Amino acid sequence: MKNIAIAGATGAVGREILNVLAKKEFPVNELKLFSSARSVGKIQETPFGPQKLEEFSIDACKNIDIIFFAVGGSFSKQYAPELLEKNKNIVIIDNSSAFRYDETVPLLIPAINADALKDARLIANPNCTTAILAMALYPIYKEFGIQKCIVSTYQATSGAGNPGMKELLQESKNYLEGLPVKNTVFSHPIPFNLIPHIDVEQENHYTKEEMKVTWETHKIFGDDSFPLSCTAVRIPTLRAHSESVVIETKKNITENGGIERVREILKNAPGVVVRDDILKNEYPMPLNASEVDEVQVGRIRKNLVFGDFGLEFFVSGDQLLRGAALNAVEIAELL
Ligand SMILES: NC(=O)c1ccc[n+]([C@@H]2O[C@H](COP(=O)([O-])OP(=O)(O)OC[C@H]3O[C@@H](n4cnc5c(N)ncnc54)[C@H](OP(=O)(O)O)[C@@H]3O)[C@@H](O)[C@H]2O)c1
Repeated sequence: MKNIAIAGATGAVGREILNVLAKKEFPVNELKLFSSARSVGKIQETPFGPQKLEEFSIDACKNIDIIFFAVGGSFSKQYAPELLEKNKNIVIIDNSSAFRYDETVPLLIPAINADALKDARLIANPNCTTAILAMALYPIYKEFGIQKCIVSTYQATSGAGNPGMKELLQESKNYLEGLPVKNTVFSHPIPFNLIPHIDVEQENHYTKEEMKVTWETHKIFGDDSFPLSCTAVRIPTLRAHSESVVIETKKNITENGGIERVREILKNAPGVVVRDDILKNEYPMPLNASEVDEVQVGRIRKNLVFGDFGLEFFVSGDQLLRGAALNAVEIAELL
């Protein structure tokens, strides 16, 4: 049995971590939930019964074995080093991007690179878009190799946490009632719109969200030899991110089993489900990927540009689960 804490327990990711721990019957002994000062003292309903929200402090973590950080990068940077120093038994699983690019910190997807865990006490959970992509891309990478990869994303508002979902719901209501539509979380009004801008612009004119997909896929695969680029777009859905993926492979796909072999590999891949029958209107969508553990893959086809070395497909995955809570709890299981 483990003593578990969640920092950010009221947030979109924190709440899902609680659900996943319960669903997987994780052996939880003591449970501590931390929130911002705004919510401290309130009671939160959880699958483990009602729990009182506490203020985070290093001292409050003294009996904790595993803590999930689900607050933000500056919180993780501020507290992780001191917590590891003062509590020699604790392991931190961090959902923020604070330590993902630190060479000494493993960036883990247990189905792909569990070996990278070693005896780390600070483990980074990947960016949600990357985690969903990697589940479908890795089996293809193993079988056919990747020469180049181009990704375009369609990302749900919950990627920006609870405030993102609230803004979509409230501003959609305003739109439909003919009231002015505002934006605070997103850079433009999100209802009936899409916004090709997530996170800040980098020197190369990609956004940080787009570069995270490149940096993190390379780190998780342990291979940065193939170029990968991404265009990340926010769309007015509540939950589950979708991605269009175009790959140039190293091996000739037609001569190595063709699209049927690709479908078979994906069907057998852990955490992946193939939904691919356009005649029956069956393909991945946010609506059928929401609250589902598996990443859905469909519209699998040979790519017109790269011919026999080209593959194209569409994925949808619940980014709060596969892209955050589920992956984080799978890391805890690995421990
Ligand atoms: N949303 C996603 O799809 C997703 C996916 C992967 C990773 N992530 C990452 O996961 C982290 C959390 O994201 P989220 O989407 O869950 O955000 P969120 O819905 O905005 O939740 C933020 C949480 O942090 C808490 N908090 C804020 N300041 C705090 C403090 N000083 N001490 C303790 N708790 C504090 C908030 O508590 P109050 O309710 O009291 O304000 C809330 O529980 C971020 O680093 C994010 O980048 C998010």
